[in-house]
Amino acid sequence: MSAFDVQKIRAQFPILTREINGYPLAYLDNAASAQKPDAVMEAMVGQTRSAYANVHRGLHTLANETTEAFEAARSSVATFLNAPSSDNIVFTRGATEALNLCAYGLAHMIQPGDEIVLTEMEHHSNIVPWHFLRERYGAVLKFIPVLPDGTLDMKVFRETIGIKTKIVSVVHMSNVLGTVNDIAEIARWAKAAGAVMISDGTQAAVHMDVDVQALGVDLYAMTGHKLYGPTAIGALYGTSDIFEKMQPFNGGGEMIEDVYLDRVTYAEAPAKFEAGTPPILEAIGLGAAINWYSQYDMADVHQHEMACYHAARDGLRDINSVQIFGEAANKGPVLAFNLQGAHAHDMAQILDKYGVAVRAGQHCTQPLMKRLDVHSTVRASFGIYNTLDEAERFVTAVKKAALFLG
Ligand SMILES: Cc1ncc(COP(=O)(O)O)c(C=O)c1O
Repeated sequence: MSAFDVQKIRAQFPILTREINGYPLAYLDNAASAQKPDAVMEAMVGQTRSAYANVHRGLHTLANETTEAFEAARSSVATFLNAPSSDNIVFTRGATEALNLCAYGLAHMIQPGDEIVLTEMEHHSNIVPWHFLRERYGAVLKFIPVLPDGTLDMKVFRETIGIKTKIVSVVHMSNVLGTVNDIAEIARWAKAAGAVMISDGTQAAVHMDVDVQALGVDLYAMTGHKLYGPTAIGALYGTSDIFEKMQPFNGGGEMIEDVYLDRVTYAEAPAKFEAGTPPILEAIGLGAAINWYSQYDMADVHQHEMACYHAARDGLRDINSVQIFGEAANKGPVLAFNLQGAHAHDMAQILDKYGVAVRAGQHCTQPLMKRLDVHSTVRASFGIYNTLDEAERFVTAVKKAALFLG
């Protein structure tokens, strides 16, 4: 394990030396997408330069070397999530595709009136695919309410899961509130009802140790680009049992066992869900990101990120007209807020003038925005390379913006 030294970490991210509008960049938009360390860029370029070919089908040296690197990346994802085996990891284009694969693959189990339980804090990626099942197969969607402190109403959750529940799909860490949900407990309820338990780990996998076996989930989605890895790559963990029951998503090369003119038989997972040439270099980049990230102790990372978050949150609390969303006891380093009377976009644009990059908008969570009774929010989200100094600069910039906008 490498000792946690934020300056040494920053030195591995060339982009962090940039100046924006005459100020050093303070990149606080990590929940949308994180920057990439040298290790990731070098792994992708190095593979392209020295050993690139298509995977799985070749009998020549380059094809074998690329396949080895690609499968090593799968194995890194499996270890990272504590999956029993690499066969439990399917590469996807990201978390959105992983969740769409869940919905598509499970659709054949849905009869009209069957219930799918979601929550009001889900990202659209974990809502819209289930609306497809509502529209096409008559599924009934149930949404668990979010309480004022940003936690789920667990009493209602417990009562909602019943004999009609076929699928429960819940975000592990909210991308707006930062709330960490008790997935293990919800999974126990889902399993007792005979339902399939899915969790969207897009944010959680970046900020906490994830053990899919301990969580007891059937399926778990994650993404590369928020985990200091490339875009267009993510992964879906699934138990062997659920992967066997799920129908394939895309058809084409690699996912078949045999193709005849009158029928087709499918390969076993993970190949069953990976039709066509996969995102080879992106998968290798994700493997490199995980290997790079794994040199740090997640407890150190969490402590550091939460120190930055708390400094920023406490600074905002001093500003009268600021409203903060999400105060769960168990949460990640995501700070959503609004300045009363000001539009979130205006705040984000003023912060950019001071070199502070944040996101403003609905964060792909329109039902949550309705529950919070806002149109949009500003969101500052912290990552491994952020500093206390950046948190303070963020607070100073918000204060200046408040003077201007107030
Ligand atoms: C909680 C959550 N789920 C899903 C997604 C979608 O992830 P991807 O960009 O990998 O499709 C995001 C991205 O913002 C997210 O925050």
